[in-house]
Amino acid sequence: MTGGTPVFPRFTVPTQVITGVGCLRQLEGIIAEFGSPEVAVVADVALDDAGVLGRVIGDAMTWRVAGLSLIQADPGVEVVEQAVDDARAAGATCVLAVGGGSALGVGKAVGIRLTNDQQIDAYEGRDRVTRRPAPTIAVPTTAGSGSEVSNALVLHEKSRDNEIVVRGQGCEPRVAVLDATVLRTLPRQPLVYSALDALSHAMEALWARGASYFTTSVAITAARSIIDRLPTAAAGADGGLNASGANDAALQELLEASSAANMACGNSALALVHALSSSPAVRVPHGLQNAVLLPHVARFNESYLGVEAAALLPRIDALYAELSLVPSFESIGYGAVDGRRMIEASLHNPFRSNNRRAPSDEDLAGILLRAGATFTSRRSDDRR
Ligand SMILES: [Fe+2]
Repeated sequence: MTGGTPVFPRFTVPTQVITGVGCLRQLEGIIAEFGSPEVAVVADVALDDAGVLGRVIGDAMTWRVAGLSLIQADPGVEVVEQAVDDARAAGATCVLAVGGGSALGVGKAVGIRLTNDQQIDAYEGRDRVTRRPAPTIAVPTTAGSGSEVSNALVLHEKSRDNEIVVRGQGCEPRVAVLDATVLRTLPRQPLVYSALDALSHAMEALWARGASYFTTSVAITAARSIIDRLPTAAAGADGGLNASGANDAALQELLEASSAANMACGNSALALVHALSSSPAVRVPHGLQNAVLLPHVARFNESYLGVEAAALLPRIDALYAELSLVPSFESIGYGAVDGRRMIEASLHNPFRSNNRRAPSDEDLAGILLRAGATFTSRRSDDRR
């Protein structure tokens, strides 16, 4: 309730999802539905090095690569604008984005800019994009961000102390193509941390104030899939079974669960894990940061969960044990994660108030101490 007016949940999943091992073979036909377009390709730079990009693009017959932009992690406005210039110069009318959250985010930004004139940061906020973006087709190569079904994109500017978030109806990709074959060569560490980020998306949807019957149903299914399948996929990354294709079924379910988790949290909105992990001053990769925070925030929220959701908590603990992952910044080699900065960041983040159990700063200090963060002063409650 806000101001006495009830806020009823909405559930919207506008992206068309095409899914299945080998479905990328249909990319030609999927793109052709947009009228044999000139396609700007935006891809994670590592995929080009690993040869994955060549396999995705294949020998396109009915469309043309109109500009190729290779993206590093945590891109900013300049990267987007350069990609837009290249795409416009090549006459692009459509975008193919291939990669993890960074490349998919830039792909969506290029789609927005192809039909909207101002620099991308002019559209910061919600629903500020005025013209419908050019169509973007997203091919995720990690099972984690869920960006392929999300209407938000995040950019990083060194000159600012917060991220630039552009979001709104119509900013999501028109089509997401989920094919496990592009995950075969993903190393164990990024595979595990991105999957645990996806698990945090599912769990946040369960303890969010914005949860509904629809988000909870999708989130529980997604969480179970990640818990069930991640050990096999992680072991296969080391043991060669992923590379050989023997684990395609597990990788495919992880990929689908990651998209589903984002469908849930995209509608319920995120909560405390992501509020705490939003400080740009804390330099720990997003997936890793959320992986550490997840079990501790889960315990904090336990009494606010339904029976099925609460039953996931001991399973998450067992998953971490199986992965030999101790959820502590200290034990994974980040000895000086500033808990105070994380609490400060959460104060300005709407995800904190979307957490069904309202936390005090003291509660948060307890969570963060258990997660191995450090506090330089003992006055952890001085902002209450
Ligand atoms: Fe996340």
